[in-house]
Amino acid sequence: MREKLEALRDEALEKVKQAEDKKALQEVRVAYLGKKGPITEVLRGMGKLSAEERPVIGQMANDVRDVIKEQVDSKESALEEAAIEAQLASESIDVTLPGRPVQAGSTHPLTAVVEEVEDAFIGLGFSVAEGPEIETDYYNFEALNLPKDHPARDMQDSFYFTEELLLRTHTSPVQARTMERYQGKGPVKVICPGKVFRRDDDDATHSHQFMQIEGLYVDENVRMSDLKGVLETFAKSFFGAEREIRLRPSFFPFTEPSVEVDVSCGMCGGHGCRICKHSGWIEVLGAGMVHPRVLEMSGFDSTKYSGFAFGMGVERLAMLKYDIDDIRHFYTNDVRFLAQFKRN
Ligand code: PHE
Repeated sequence: MREKLEALRDEALEKVKQAEDKKALQEVRVAYLGKKGPITEVLRGMGKLSAEERPVIGQMANDVRDVIKEQVDSKESALEEAAIEAQLASESIDVTLPGRPVQAGSTHPLTAVVEEVEDAFIGLGFSVAEGPEIETDYYNFEALNLPKDHPARDMQDSFYFTEELLLRTHTSPVQARTMERYQGKGPVKVICPGKVFRRDDDDATHSHQFMQIEGLYVDENVRMSDLKGVLETFAKSFFGAEREIRLRPSFFPFTEPSVEVDVSCGMCGGHGCRICKHSGWIEVLGAGMVHPRVLEMSGFDSTKYSGFAFGMGVERLAMLKYDIDDIRHFYTNDVRFLAQFKRN
């Protein structure tokens, strides 16, 4: 019996040693320590032993069982540890390898200009208003003192859907819409950026679709000097502190008086060069004092309120600021162009 137990023990320990994975180990455990295993069998057969032998063999069988169990357990934790080690090794990252470059986009130059203009005017107390790109004839023209068949409508060739619906030709309809919302009570102080559409043939300086930013300030005692001051402040913040502006008389049906606003040429400092066609000045926007009829049509008492308005082309501002020579660059989405406007 003694020899049999010793042989069993040696055999089991040898198998534990040979077990290469948890599955093999589990088989050893079941085979030697299980209910149907040889040691259980020995213990079961104890009744046949003599009274002296029984405790000795019993003790021995228990010892053999304990030794096998201990070896199986320790081999099992060794195998588990080895598995974790192997997994860690296979998942390790070489942090010294160079990374793959991430292609980040950049703000479109038109968006950047709109945001910069917005920031400049928000700093002067304006807020941002928006209106629809598909506009009614009323807001695009009539509410701006351009009745049907008015010859000045020809200044802005339009895309019509129906007699009454068109793609807006300028952002000025947002003036009328905003004033209506204020129901005759000032102050109104908004800028309105957005897309506009005109039936133009596309070339280096024309596009059938472009962007404008409208400005409107209506309050008691708003004067032309306020217009000039606001635009001068804006021009210096947008183009540079050394730049000057000048106003030239012009005509718009919705403002009276109306002006074109020029900014001194940044290339030659106003002395005259190819960029400013030797005038020293570059035209940047249209403006004027809101026509009393426009105020009245949008519900403001023109004997109490006055105001100024201006409208500028975003592409034109961007072309002047970044020295871009073709308006079509803004729409063709060539990344070699766009990537130049990355802000760091
Ligand atoms: N809406 C005019 C245009 O598109 C610009 C403008 C706006 C002029 C406001 C005067 C006042 O040409």
